[in-house]
Amino acid sequence: MASIAQLSQHIDQEISLTGWLTDKSSKGKLHFLKLRDGSGFVQATVFKNDVSEDVFESARRLVQEQAVTITGLVRQDDRAPGGVEISVRDLRPLSQNEGEYPITPKEHGVEFLFDQRHLYTRHRRPWAIMRVRDCVQRAMINFFHGEGFVRFDSPFFTPNAAEDTTELFEINLFDEDKAYLSQTGQLHAEAGALAFGKVYTFGPTFRAEKSKTRRHLLEFWMVEPEVAPSNHQENMALQERFVSSVVRQVLQECAAELQMLGRDLTKLAGAAEGNYPRVTYTEALKIIRQHIESADLPPNVSPDTQPVEWGDDFGAPHETILGHHFDRPVIVERYPAAIKAFYMQPDPEDERLALCDDMIAPEGYGEIIGGSQRIHDYGLLRSRIEEHGLPLDAFDWYLDLRRFGSVPHAGFGLGLERFVMWITGSEHIREVIPFPRMLSRMKP
Ligand code: 4AD
Ligand code: MG
Repeated sequence: MASIAQLSQHIDQEISLTGWLTDKSSKGKLHFLKLRDGSGFVQATVFKNDVSEDVFESARRLVQEQAVTITGLVRQDDRAPGGVEISVRDLRPLSQNEGEYPITPKEHGVEFLFDQRHLYTRHRRPWAIMRVRDCVQRAMINFFHGEGFVRFDSPFFTPNAAEDTTELFEINLFDEDKAYLSQTGQLHAEAGALAFGKVYTFGPTFRAEKSKTRRHLLEFWMVEPEVAPSNHQENMALQERFVSSVVRQVLQECAAELQMLGRDLTKLAGAAEGNYPRVTYTEALKIIRQHIESADLPPNVSPDTQPVEWGDDFGAPHETILGHHFDRPVIVERYPAAIKAFYMQPDPEDERLALCDDMIAPEGYGEIIGGSQRIHDYGLLRSRIEEHGLPLDAFDWYLDLRRFGSVPHAGFGLGLERFVMWITGSEHIREVIPFPRMLSRMKP
């Protein structure tokens, strides 16, 4: 059996392939069948004079998303997508569909399409996005492999909170034991870094996000490298190498999918190159304020947007303004410690700040990375846990990492879906994960 993706290697040869009908039109003695087989999309023509009456009749009866095996001649056709067409000689349906396929070629609303997500993933746009998502994951793993990192898997059930405790999913495992769904693999990755030097964890993470936004999921995938020993500067350099290398590989391997999605590839050129600008939190506030005061705002930012006061976190519009100010991802470093997690190393030059950074994507796709140098001093970490009102006994193992052979270390987390949203130019995060889990969506 041939696959559609390989048809260009079979010009003027007869092949057989199994696929599904996406659309069909007929004109006199011709049926035009649009087929997909998972590897791609192609048109096959059935000409009455070339086939038996049975075959012509079978083609006429084919319905949308029916599975079919065809045999035919591959012809070069520069006007066709993929540059080929098939002239059918034989055709055999593999099954009969029960009822009408719900996603007809007409326009459908977004909610309907996501109710039908188990079927909708077969269609062009989700198909192209999922292939890019796959490529991004491969590129990430490639990068870490090339830099000598060890994959170190962290658990999904965790004994302790790590990020914002208001966004924690608590579960009752058995009568007494309380556990949480992991918000991050970082804390366990730190144990891995002290064992292997360079590790990364990659898996689903869970956050009880009560606000509905186009950038938040309840369940999302995060890749989290952790390096010991390391520091804030090395951590930012690693982020830039990582993101630029992944963008380069995706541009090389997925240009066709990105073109299908209508993505303007020139917008990704800066990200592929490197040299990401770095600004401090305080400088970022000034950039945001200047844009607001001169009413120089991206189209989707409300003119009523207020500047950020020092000490406050950015909202989505502020990240959008910052993202539009640069032609590639920008690293914003040294946020006020008070708005960041308990484990971040204080800035020795200004104790109010943390040695941390966020990477903000261009074009308004927002924060894609959060990272920091970690507190390595036992006493300081212990008092931070207490100040944040976290239960010390749940963190005894984490404190052990500072009791025995502690060193300055650092790492970051990249949200896979935020990243894929940006690369594919998707409007909403639900588009870039096969089965999104959000406040109003648990099915299919
Ligand atoms: O900035 P965050 O909260 O950082 C951490 O969890 C650290 N422990 C990571 C580390 O240092 N190892 O989350 C990291 C990234 C964000 O930049 C964003 O891309 C993504 O995870 N993210 C989400 N993606 C989708 N839906 C959500 N609800 C997300 N929350 C965070
Ligand atoms: Mg963050």
